Amino acid sequence: GAMSRLIIISNRVQPPTGEGGGGNQGGLAVALSAALRESSGIWFGWSGETTDQFTGHINLQRAFGVTTATIDLEEQDVDEYYNGYANRTLWPLFHYRMDLAEFESGFAEGYERVNQRFAETLEPLIESDDLVWVHDYHMVPLGQYLRDRGITNRIGFFLHIPWPPYRLLLSLPNHRQLVETLFAYDVVGFQTRDSLDSFRDYVRQEMGGSVAEDGRITVGDRSMMAIHCPIGIDTANFLEATQSTAARYAYYRMRQSSSGREMIIGVDRLDYSKGLEERFLGYERLLQQREDLHGEVFLLQIAPPSRGDVQSYQEIRASLDALSGRINGAYADVEWVPIRYVNRGYPRDRLAGIYRAAKVGLVTPLRDGMNLVAKEYVAAQDPEDPGILILSQFAGAAEQLTQALLINPYSPEDIADAIARALEMPLDERKARWRACMDNIEAEDVLWWRKRFTDALEGVGQSVE
Ligand code: G6P
Repeated sequence: GAMSRLIIISNRVQPPTGEGGGGNQGGLAVALSAALRESSGIWFGWSGETTDQFTGHINLQRAFGVTTATIDLEEQDVDEYYNGYANRTLWPLFHYRMDLAEFESGFAEGYERVNQRFAETLEPLIESDDLVWVHDYHMVPLGQYLRDRGITNRIGFFLHIPWPPYRLLLSLPNHRQLVETLFAYDVVGFQTRDSLDSFRDYVRQEMGGSVAEDGRITVGDRSMMAIHCPIGIDTANFLEATQSTAARYAYYRMRQSSSGREMIIGVDRLDYSKGLEERFLGYERLLQQREDLHGEVFLLQIAPPSRGDVQSYQEIRASLDALSGRINGAYADVEWVPIRYVNRGYPRDRLAGIYRAAKVGLVTPLRDGMNLVAKEYVAAQDPEDPGILILSQFAGAAEQLTQALLINPYSPEDIADAIARALEMPLDERKARWRACMDNIEAEDVLWWRKRFTDALEGVGQSVE
């Protein structure tokens, strides 16, 4: 039938600014503003602000075709829900970092309280034909709380980060309770087949559930659809950005400041999941092995700080400061610095120009749900003389960008060898690899992703409680 109104819920709400995009948006915010553009929907979530006493007041705004509805949270909420359960418990565990995961009952309580607050404030905004689409690990139980309040709309959930292997998830206290809340949704989407498989393992082995041919999952008398639905970039829009004045100027300035040297680029939120230490060590290995490259290449690493209230983020920042300083101290010459390490973010149109000026794109996370920087780097290239993407086999994007140079991000040799190979790769091979990656980025863009998910959601029978 006619397209239903879309209500999107995520913790982080960052509508387009109209100035080439914000400075350190994660992939989620970039994709959601594209998914909502020119739709009559609402984007609901946290304002990023705190208040003394939670009121449930909704701040409605409309900017560049997107309506946002945000609420303030109490400081304790932010500590326990955002800095706590979301970013000290779920994020590390779901990125295979049990060593960093903290299990505190206060975090879990704050997480539930905030999800209840979201449900309570959101409920009056929902009209009967709306499609409700909940995003990411901050909001897993939200659907259940909406059902508890009598909402019978179709509700979907999409996880932007990896789903961990079954046995890893067992270390989360009350894991079963959390997973059971997913059965309040009609459709649950994952970035990769790998994550969907891990989820199915959990359902079969831990819950005694079954998976039907069409992907429907049943546990006892409850069932839902679980699909894999990889997120993409807003390709047409990004290609336009690469032609903008800001992008062209950034490209020109980068080429000037490169003084004929080849640039290798990395752009990541400053997060331990991104494999930045391993990346620096891989690059250092290259400098050790290839004296002929000294003064001929440099690495530009852009890493805007993220989640600075969480200790593990303070630690990764300090260790990258030390590592980049040590490598530069050891190898720099009066006219050459091997690593330009930059702790700030740039608008997307400028980044597009910077990507295009880079011969090599280094995207080497130890684990990543998808990684849209990989896709943007490819989309920004000159088709006649494209750079080469070096991509971690553990990024979700590796399931689609199979013609990137896929590497093991834990291996400095792998990284060093791949950079050397990329720098020397003949034009024909670069073009062929670029074309194969670009075909996927054009076909499976953010609008394809939105359609794939909402088609699945509209395809299921209206849910009845
Ligand atoms: C990842 C997560 C998003 C999150 C983003 C930025 O992409 O999947 O949910 O918004 O990182 O992190 P932040 O904590 O700043 O929102």
